[in-house]
Amino acid sequence: VTAERALAAEEIDQLLYYATLAPSPHNAQGWAFDVHADRRIDVRLDRRRQVLAELDPQAKEGHLAIGAAVENLCVAARHLGWEPHVAWLPDGRDRDLLARVELAPALPCDDGSLLAITSRATHRSHYRPKPVEARVLAALGGIADAEGFELTVLTEPTAISRVAQLAGRAGAFKLACHQTRGELQDLLRFSSRETAESRDGLAFDLLAPRVARLGRLLMGKTTLRALMPFGYARLLAHSAEELPIRSSPAVALLSVRSGDPAALRFLRGGQVFGRIALEATAAGLSLQPHGAPIEVGLARPFEHGAPIPGDLRAAFGLAADATPIILFRLGYATHTPERRSLRRSVSSARSSADYFYRELTRRNQGVVSSATQDKLRGLRIGIFGCGSIGGAPVEILARMGAESFLLAEPGTYELNNLNRQAATLADVGRNKAEALRERIRTINPGARALVEPRGVTAGNVHYLVGTSDVIVDGVDVTEAAGIEAKLLLHREAWRQRRVVILGLDMGGTQLVRVHDYRDDGSRPLDGRFEGVPAAGVSAQTFLMRMLSPIDVPADMIRIAERVLDGETPPMPQLAPTAAQFGVVASWAILELASGKSLRREIRIDLPGVVAPPARRLRDEARRMLALVRLKLLLENARRRPRQRALRRTP
Ligand SMILES: Cc1cc2nc3c(=O)[nH]c(=O)nc-3n(C[C@H](O)[C@H](O)[C@H](O)COP(=O)(O)O)c2cc1C
Repeated sequence: VTAERALAAEEIDQLLYYATLAPSPHNAQGWAFDVHADRRIDVRLDRRRQVLAELDPQAKEGHLAIGAAVENLCVAARHLGWEPHVAWLPDGRDRDLLARVELAPALPCDDGSLLAITSRATHRSHYRPKPVEARVLAALGGIADAEGFELTVLTEPTAISRVAQLAGRAGAFKLACHQTRGELQDLLRFSSRETAESRDGLAFDLLAPRVARLGRLLMGKTTLRALMPFGYARLLAHSAEELPIRSSPAVALLSVRSGDPAALRFLRGGQVFGRIALEATAAGLSLQPHGAPIEVGLARPFEHGAPIPGDLRAAFGLAADATPIILFRLGYATHTPERRSLRRSVSSARSSADYFYRELTRRNQGVVSSATQDKLRGLRIGIFGCGSIGGAPVEILARMGAESFLLAEPGTYELNNLNRQAATLADVGRNKAEALRERIRTINPGARALVEPRGVTAGNVHYLVGTSDVIVDGVDVTEAAGIEAKLLLHREAWRQRRVVILGLDMGGTQLVRVHDYRDDGSRPLDGRFEGVPAAGVSAQTFLMRMLSPIDVPADMIRIAERVLDGETPPMPQLAPTAAQFGVVASWAILELASGKSLRREIRIDLPGVVAPPARRLRDEARRMLALVRLKLLLENARRRPRQRALRRTP
């Protein structure tokens, strides 16, 4: 640990990512980060992304969300070996500069809190009647105490019911406010694709999974306008606020008695709330904030929206000089959300105005529109597994003008890789991702490539997927560890609604599959591994589930026969096949950048492509015969152990 240590680009990227996983009202993510060279990160309020302009004109909840984001940032910093020092409202003249976090070198601290950041989510289902242990509630209260805040928790059913009822009223009041309703509707995402494209707002399948398909009908602008006079707001608030709260074993109110300005109370309150939410997550609890009862009193305390703010204070026995910060319920959800609420990327896109970039991409013009070129430039491409498959599109993409890569690969180049991978003798022994980063920079020094030399792991998959706009899955499947990483990758990509392009090379045949997890009906790897634990899947089982026999080319059938005979032949992998994946995947990414959809499976059989039609037919007929023979051999192999066992029994 040295005082001189600089903050690596990879660390900055992770810090900002984990910061943005904080909760925010309507998932509007009203924050912006400026990273300075002196290990200082400024966190600003992004006023364009504030919600509740009518109820909360000072953006107090926006401050709260930034407080929680700063807490996440601090937790992630400690995990990476940095001690954070936070200064709130560091510049009196700049009221939107809400926090400055300075980082000093320290020893990394792996206490599992990063896991709490990635597992925390708002749980909106009804909760089970199981009580929350007093010990856990006391620990949460202790977090508030330590910062001069107070956490009041109600566990008694009649007290909870009173809060539920007033939250129902507050929710209905909020929905009846014309402008507030408009903001909510602008941030509702009715289809998975809308969620994937905006990466903010409220995904309807997370809000109300049972009626997700009816979302547009139930919450559409016309429906709301038409049904409002008939008590529709009350009905919606009853099911979204009142009933869920009533089902919960505990409701809590965080408050503070302090003479600090409101901005500081909500910022610090947000940090305390963030810490409580992480601790609750680590303790296995579910949590949902209910903003409405506080929001209706934010602009004009004690008078707005009927007597709700007063009723809330009475329900929690709040002192007259205390400020309520956030109301939430705690318990054990009956349903946990399957997919995640998404976050926008925090790095801003650059324009293609500079000379170097214009020259680099000049010969793309005419085929690639300037809008698509800009999009490709800003796209973060996650290359997970940088060997024959993942490594192949990197150079092509860099030449096409892609400028942002996230390269994850634990392996180093070996001599036998040189027959197909873009490495030279000098690269043997080097980490593949590191070598590829260098290669990218020799083509375009302005390109940014971040390297994860641990590859895909359970600990980093949330970050890897969450910061990539499109993913190339080149994870090696010859070993169980790679297969585990691949399953983790696809499950996470499905949760975060990304597109994954996967390649499987078999001799002279390249099979490319495009998994578009932005689609509502999609499942990880088309459901081929549903219910299968990620760990411990053998290469053979993996391939059997991934491929139908008809996909297997002739060369591979001969290899399979040798395997059945007890041999262990090396798996052939060839340069043209690998390069073919690079060609297909990079073109697919270009199409995605221009907003086009893609075929789900692309199969290129190179020997078949170059053969004259007659030979192609003959080869195909031979392959079919070989497949039949292989099937017989497989059946024999299955019977053999049984016969051997029978012979052994006396
Ligand atoms: C101040 C504040 C108020 C919130 N109010 C509500 C609410 O009334 N109902 C709700 O379901 N979620 C509420 N949320 C949760 C956000 O919708 C949620 O944090 C956001 O959608 C991101 O999702 P996540 O928490 O699952 O990551 C609130 C969050 C904050 C910070």
